[in-house]
Amino acid sequence: MNVCIIGAGYVGLTTAAVLAKLGHTVHCVDENEQKIAALKRGDVPIYEPGLAELFTDHQSRLFFHHKQIHVEADVIFICVGTPADSKGKPDVSYVNRAIADLTPHINEKQTLVIKSTVPIGTNERIYNHFKNEGKHIHVVSNPEFLREGSAIFDSLYPDRIVIGLREDDDRSLSIMQALYAGIHAPYIVTSLSGAEMIKYAANAFLATKISFINEMARLCEAYGVDVVDVAKGIGLDGRIGPHFLQAGIGYGGSCFPKDVTALQQMAYEQNVRPYMLEATKTINDTQLNWYVQKIKRTLGHMSKKRIAVLGIAFKPNTDDIRESPAVSLIKKLHAHGANVIAHDPKAVLHNVDVKQANTLEEAIAQADALIVATDWDEYKQLNWAYVKQMMSGNVVIDGRNCLPREAIMNAGLNYVGVGRG
Ligand code: NAD
Ligand code: UDX
Repeated sequence: MNVCIIGAGYVGLTTAAVLAKLGHTVHCVDENEQKIAALKRGDVPIYEPGLAELFTDHQSRLFFHHKQIHVEADVIFICVGTPADSKGKPDVSYVNRAIADLTPHINEKQTLVIKSTVPIGTNERIYNHFKNEGKHIHVVSNPEFLREGSAIFDSLYPDRIVIGLREDDDRSLSIMQALYAGIHAPYIVTSLSGAEMIKYAANAFLATKISFINEMARLCEAYGVDVVDVAKGIGLDGRIGPHFLQAGIGYGGSCFPKDVTALQQMAYEQNVRPYMLEATKTINDTQLNWYVQKIKRTLGHMSKKRIAVLGIAFKPNTDDIRESPAVSLIKKLHAHGANVIAHDPKAVLHNVDVKQANTLEEAIAQADALIVATDWDEYKQLNWAYVKQMMSGNVVIDGRNCLPREAIMNAGLNYVGVGRG
């Protein structure tokens, strides 16, 4: 098929690479001229494992356009951002602009797929917008569940494919199945609004699991219990499951914080009190301060102390720093007077007056304390005896409960985790 993707970000580019791999011809459109220029040169503007390789392997089927929509496409995807506005509501202006750009060109033979995470009712509104223009467009809500850092794998092997359709749309499901032929996953077919709600509910549930275990970490800390044992102990119960139970400095990224808040706002709009979402957000909003207090208790004062913060990205295997708890931590330590030196294998610190080391050794050398803020594999695999030699101090703070505690202690270092008793 001939596909046009509007919005060449993390979701748009991953979708493009995977559809090209499936054999489709894909035209990516973005309003960011520099991004399109880079893509045309063969440079992938984001770091996502496996993405650059897929672009190279399938370059004959991938095309990039600045603003110009590919009007001959059979299927048009909208993958533009829907960030939170100043009140925490989803800003759908990028979606609205993309729809406005499409309006003169789109025809009834085409299928319009909304992949951006949009507030409940948006897909129906888009359908009605075209109807008012005299066009009965096949609108499909196809939310995305990929995780950054494993986006290609998640797209090739999704747990499910959610398709939201209008009741009278008897054509779009077979088009979507033909488009995704080669990807084996159960289909969940529901209404346009049902698909929108599934997306928010999934993210809110996962965020709630994280906030739950972070609350347990605080309790474990108070009672001298190891939350890692608790996570294992509850996670083996098939009804609970082992995933998303890693306590730490809180969830971040471009999705969980904004989507939990957006769902909360949508609840208030309907006079439904979202007790669970409020708690999930409150725990996350207070987790970092709770942990910084612990760091202060551990180190005494922070003024002029050299602290190596390992990790800038909001999670490993990405260069994305949107809503990164690591960046918030760096800012807080800096505000406490610490002499912070940050490191990340891929992410770059912006607009913060803190030095970023080029190498791990440069970050660790002479550090009074080392804090892991993002659970990159290369931090987990450090040679702790060598780390001890390089540091001035002896405190290793594991803000992600991802480090080998025994090995660190055997190297003569003090280990401090999150809720580890
Ligand atoms: P992003 O910010 O990385 O990319 C969005 C791109 O759209 C940008 O390159 C921007 O220049 C472009 N754009 C915006 N308006 C445009 C327009 N009118 N015409 C052409 N281009 C335009 O965003 P993302 O992280 O890929 O997220 C996209 C959507 O997918 C969001 O709704 C998000 O909530 C959802 N989502 C994201 C993820 C994720 O992990 N990032 C996962 C699932 C769902
Ligand atoms: C998330 C959803 O997982 C994905 O399905 C959706 O499409 C987009 O939002 P993403 O934000 O890319 O994906 O990463 P994810 O792995 O979910 O991590 C989000 C945040 O939660 C990160 O800051 C991560 O460090 C944190 N996290 C995750 C924890 O603190 N503990 C955990 O156990 C898991």
